[in-house]
Amino acid sequence: MYPVEKREESTTKRPFRTPRSRLIFLVAIFGASLWHIGPPSRGFVPWIDNLSSPHPLGRSVQENAHLQWTPCPDNSTFYCSFFAVPLDYATPSSEDKTVIAMRMYPATVSGSERLGSIFTNPGGPGGSGHSGLLRTGPLLSNIFEGKFDIVSWDPRGVNMTTPRISCHPTNFHRELYALSHDSGDLDFNGADIATLNKSLLTTSARAKLLTEMCRDAVGDTLLRSVTTVNVARDLEEMRKAVGGGGLHYWGFSYGTTLGATYVAMFPEHSDKVVLDGVVYAPEQYTSLVDHGLSAGKSTNGVFDGFVSNCVSAGPERCALMKGTDTTAAELSARIWGLASRLAITPLPVPRPTAGMPTILHRGHLLGALFSALYRPASWAALAEAIARTEDGEGAALAELSGAGGAHWAEHARNITDAERAEEAGWGPGREMGASEGGMAVSCGDAPPFDVDGDLAVWTGAWLGWRDQLAALNPLGGPNWFSSVVRCRHWGSVLPSPPRYEGSWELGGDSRKPKNPVVFVSNSYDPITPIASGRRMVETFGKENARLLHNNGYGHCSTNHPSVCVAKALKAYMINGTLFEEGTVCEPDEGIMFPPKDSEGGMHAVGYSDEDRELAHTLRLLADAGIGIVPPGLGRTGFLSSHSAVPRIMLHPLLIAHV
Ligand SMILES: *[C@@H]1O[C@H](CO)[C@@H](O)[C@H](O)[C@H]1NC(C)=O
Ligand SMILES: *[C@@H]1O[C@H](CO)[C@@H](O)[C@H](O)[C@H]1NC(C)=O
Ligand SMILES: *[C@@H]1O[C@H](CO)[C@@H](O)[C@H](O)[C@H]1NC(C)=O
Ligand SMILES: *[C@@H]1O[C@H](CO)[C@@H](O)[C@H](O)[C@H]1NC(C)=O
Ligand SMILES: *[C@@H]1O[C@H](CO)[C@@H](O)[C@H](O)[C@H]1NC(C)=O
Ligand SMILES: *[C@@H]1O[C@H](CO)[C@@H](O)[C@H](O)[C@H]1NC(C)=O
Repeated sequence: MYPVEKREESTTKRPFRTPRSRLIFLVAIFGASLWHIGPPSRGFVPWIDNLSSPHPLGRSVQENAHLQWTPCPDNSTFYCSFFAVPLDYATPSSEDKTVIAMRMYPATVSGSERLGSIFTNPGGPGGSGHSGLLRTGPLLSNIFEGKFDIVSWDPRGVNMTTPRISCHPTNFHRELYALSHDSGDLDFNGADIATLNKSLLTTSARAKLLTEMCRDAVGDTLLRSVTTVNVARDLEEMRKAVGGGGLHYWGFSYGTTLGATYVAMFPEHSDKVVLDGVVYAPEQYTSLVDHGLSAGKSTNGVFDGFVSNCVSAGPERCALMKGTDTTAAELSARIWGLASRLAITPLPVPRPTAGMPTILHRGHLLGALFSALYRPASWAALAEAIARTEDGEGAALAELSGAGGAHWAEHARNITDAERAEEAGWGPGREMGASEGGMAVSCGDAPPFDVDGDLAVWTGAWLGWRDQLAALNPLGGPNWFSSVVRCRHWGSVLPSPPRYEGSWELGGDSRKPKNPVVFVSNSYDPITPIASGRRMVETFGKENARLLHNNGYGHCSTNHPSVCVAKALKAYMINGTLFEEGTVCEPDEGIMFPPKDSEGGMHAVGYSDEDRELAHTLRLLADAGIGIVPPGLGRTGFLSSHSAVPRIMLHPLLIAHV
């Protein structure tokens, strides 16, 4: 049915073992490491060398044997460390290292009450754990009564971890490159075959271009090194270095692929693992198309939720309601009608709030809609932007969709990554190549495509995939398809990246996690449907996994917070107590279309003081946005190929412009 996705021999090897660590608070010291570590060699960690010292990055590359936490330069409430691992686990003794930037928010209880460390990954792929933890560390810590150190890291290729993947010389170049596609008005939303074919051929050519640019910029060795199987090995090395026994982990979105891969590879070291916003992980490694079909199963349900909740919120709270008698069906038809009109007559935006003056077309509306489905808390703003667009005023939608390039003034400064790092030091506003790092993970995890073959044959087959994805999921499917196209030429990265191809079955004596893995799914999630959570439980087996069902909308439980979910996770992490099978939690009130006068829409009526405090923490966590790019990082790193998916770190593919 599909053109053959070439399968190759895996280069996967079992990971290396280092001696167990013993932990001293903040300074973990353990036995000799297996591989030679030194400061990263010149040229290998390009911009570290060029920073004037003393600089935090200059000093702190540590031997694995001495994971040393020091107060982070940007905020001394957190501790930071650098940790070297082999760039290629097949040749661990090589001098080529990846130096992982780690960050930790320490437990707030006394040493005797401290229970260990919880690792967290914010999603992506390509998401920065550094940046995520800076925003969410104290909140995650609160949920678990301050009893754990909360630890995160920039995965291979990303942000402060070196060598980093960045395929454009400056952000300015990256932004121009994105705009040049954005203004092309090509997308995969329509049904006209000639236009779709033209979009496919152009997008494929751009994919080839970007793949070559990346190979020229950082080389195949680095590009192939960042796949999830290696990130899971890194996590295992970090777990050992941090000490304290088996893995405690809370992963979101793509972080569930990583977590599930970790559990499959190292079940015996898996202790308390929470996977929230669940990807059906095996498909990440077998087929981008099947993966997309699975991922889009409940996107329509979230859209319906947006529309029906707007109707019940009424004109006071939802700007799309022009009278009280509008029905959900009418509202839905109006939104799709607006999309059709924009496809024919794009809307000029002469006075944008963020980017360049630009025109809005259908792709921008659909992209803004799709990304807003991740966060019920953003629905009121989305409704407002759509209502204004109906009235011919597109600035709000341009900002939501990233049309015209958000934060242009910052990106337009033509400075290199190294200069930017030197100027800014640590702290907000640094973003370097995140989308390309994520692309290298997604494309490298999947089997390479066969790019030979007759034009009519391959275009026909690929457009067949588009049709399948779009038929199932008109909002997200076309977008996903463009991400598949983005990977079309990744097979030229050689040798083929290592991929997890081992078993997903658990349960034999040596393949048993210490505690069942907890999967958390919302009733309607635009990119990680609850069906994937159920399949993962089936795959790992009921004795090794359990599903916690949050009866809400959006991506990951944190975007539709629930005190019930948080209490279940807290009991699991702190006491090892597992919730009943079949537990369904209700989310807290006040996230969707809150009344205008309510401060953040918090309703915790009937909650105990303790629960009210927890609800407050969860609300702040939703605002901080797990898996969401912080404001100010907007579009550049996280734009889908037909534009319009800013701000959100889309799991798992939809993060780069081709
Ligand atoms: C670092 O500095 C050297 C010498 O000034 C220069 O040749 C090199 O291109 C710089 N590297 C980066 C990544 O800026
Ligand atoms: C450092 O982080 C803590 C915890 O998030 C926060 O309360 C504090 O305001 C931050 N300090 C600075 C200087 O940003
Ligand atoms: C921007 O930077 C690039 C590469 O560093 C350089 O080639 C180009 O001339 C610069 N452009 C401007 C307008 O300064
Ligand atoms: C990279 O890390 C720094 C330091 O923690 C953070 O401020 C910045 O936001 C991160 N960049 C991205 C793109 O996440
Ligand atoms: C796409 O366009 C190319 C070039 O005109 C053509 O050869 C090919 O048959 C078309 N494919 C489809 C599926 O229409
Ligand atoms: C853990 O168990 C203890 C003792 O049964 C209990 O007092 C405490 O409330 C439990 N904590 C959580 C978070 O469930």
